[in-house]
Amino acid sequence: MVSKQSHRKDEHISLAEHFYEDNHSDFNDIRLVPTSLPHFNVDDVDISTEISDLKFKVPFFINAITGGSEQSAKINQRLAKIAANTGLAMAVGSQSIAISDPTQEASFSVVRENNPDGIVIANIGANHGADVANKAVEMINADALQVHINAAQELVMPEGDREFNFIDNIKNIIDEVSVPVIVKEVGFGMSQQTITELTQLGVKIVDVSGMGGTNFAKIENFRRSDKTMPYMADWGLTTPESLLEASPINLDIDVIASGGVKNPLDMAKCFSLGAKLVGMSGEFLHQLLTYPEDETVVEHVNDWIYGLKTIMVLTNSQKISDLTKVDQILSPQLTAYKKQRGSG
Ligand code: FNR
Repeated sequence: MVSKQSHRKDEHISLAEHFYEDNHSDFNDIRLVPTSLPHFNVDDVDISTEISDLKFKVPFFINAITGGSEQSAKINQRLAKIAANTGLAMAVGSQSIAISDPTQEASFSVVRENNPDGIVIANIGANHGADVANKAVEMINADALQVHINAAQELVMPEGDREFNFIDNIKNIIDEVSVPVIVKEVGFGMSQQTITELTQLGVKIVDVSGMGGTNFAKIENFRRSDKTMPYMADWGLTTPESLLEASPINLDIDVIASGGVKNPLDMAKCFSLGAKLVGMSGEFLHQLLTYPEDETVVEHVNDWIYGLKTIMVLTNSQKISDLTKVDQILSPQLTAYKKQRGSG
């Protein structure tokens, strides 16, 4: 008998893929000014990045997707093998299902088993406090913890939460969890106000996870029998907008970008807007469901690594942080956004 929660995990996987779209990208609102006179060679480029005490060989990672069902266990196993093969960090999906039903633990611990030495990131919702968070970290011997804030998703989700205690829970988690804590959205982006409030709670790492990729308002509305909330599909800030929101915040905070990232050019644009690391969920899920052989996905990851180095050579960026010095041309729409929001 498949539990309701496991069934929801499988629905999220199939609906994320159903709504996977390859047409409009909000990253088209940004262009990077190139050089025609490269100052160095592809082999001179260093794509490693650091956040807190974590050293990432590759500056993009497999962001939270799944766990908690038979299908998701298989997906997690494949993703972990791909991560181990390519040096990518990997986050698991929300582990709360395995806290309430320990028979689901294996669908998460499979990630550590298949990637013993890589960076593995635990995941829990901000509707939980430090006790649950610590259990999630232990379950997969995680190097870091993601705490997702997903109010918009819950409110559209038919069986979702209608009350929130995120602020107290995040504070409790920050105080009690010893690994680095990343507070992340789930595809609705973050405002300057949200990021500032998070820093006041002691948060040092945020993943702005903006609108423009996997859209949980669409997914959850589709899961409603009445389907009465289609207008929420436009809710939130895009990933470029969220990065602009974060950029004037002169505080001790590392920014991760995710939401709609599909290729190395999207990544380079995120780095140019100040991100230190870039996450992809929908694209990795799509790769996995499209290509049955792990080797094919590994090849694509290696192609992306080469692609990112290419763009770095073509912008005279020897390391990831150099991309912040590259001139950008913003679309009139993004320029107006930046002006209205006072971020430049
Ligand atoms: C997600 N995401 C997610 N995030 C999270 O923190 N905990 C979770 O359990 C899940 N579950 C989940 C399931 C599926 C099927 C997908 C595709 C995504 C959200 C994810 O980490 C990310 O924030 C958004 O998907 C936006 O990034 P992409 O998908 O546009 O790259």
